[in-house]
Amino acid sequence: MKPHHIETLLSSEQVSTRISMMANEITKQLPQDLMVIALLRGSFVFTADLIRAFYASGTKPQVDFMTLDSYGSDTTSKGSVTIIRDITENVEGRDVLLVDDILESGRTLSFAKKLIEERHPRSVNIAVMLEKPGHRKAEIDADFVGFKIPDKFVVGMGLDYANYYRELPYIGAVEFE
Ligand code: IMP
Ligand code: MG
Repeated sequence: MKPHHIETLLSSEQVSTRISMMANEITKQLPQDLMVIALLRGSFVFTADLIRAFYASGTKPQVDFMTLDSYGSDTTSKGSVTIIRDITENVEGRDVLLVDDILESGRTLSFAKKLIEERHPRSVNIAVMLEKPGHRKAEIDADFVGFKIPDKFVVGMGLDYANYYRELPYIGAVEFE
């Protein structure tokens, strides 16, 4: 890791308030018997908070996980996506909610969406905690976005820098020195 420090971008209160709102929005707009597919590793904290917020808003999802890799250990995209671990549930005829930490180039989510669509779900929606502008390489939009953030490398709430900082209960920007 290069010399750096972390500056708070979104406090844990801001993040948790917004996640509760998102759960309400999703519950109003989508069916209740959702199949949540969390894209690991980055989305595990957001997904855990979101499904507990679903408990309060009345959505009763099933949950599965898919591990994809689109980044190396640094802060720039490799440009290709590989499946490390696939889901084990059958999504045919299901209403799928793909959950990821952040939408940047869109490669990860467009890869995941295509993969799921080939398996004939009834619908596929996308929820992301964060969206970063200006780097879109694939034509994809999220149906539910927590926060649009400035073009900074961010960590916390599951997001990492070299697999560190996932435990931060807030979103921080990495400032290189
Ligand atoms: P995309 O495929 O370029 O949209 O990026 C998707 C993945 O890259 C995300 O799921 C994150 O794991 C990672 N990523 C993108 N931007 C950041 C960032 O600012 N901090 C940490 N990880 C990021
Ligand atoms: Mg990720």
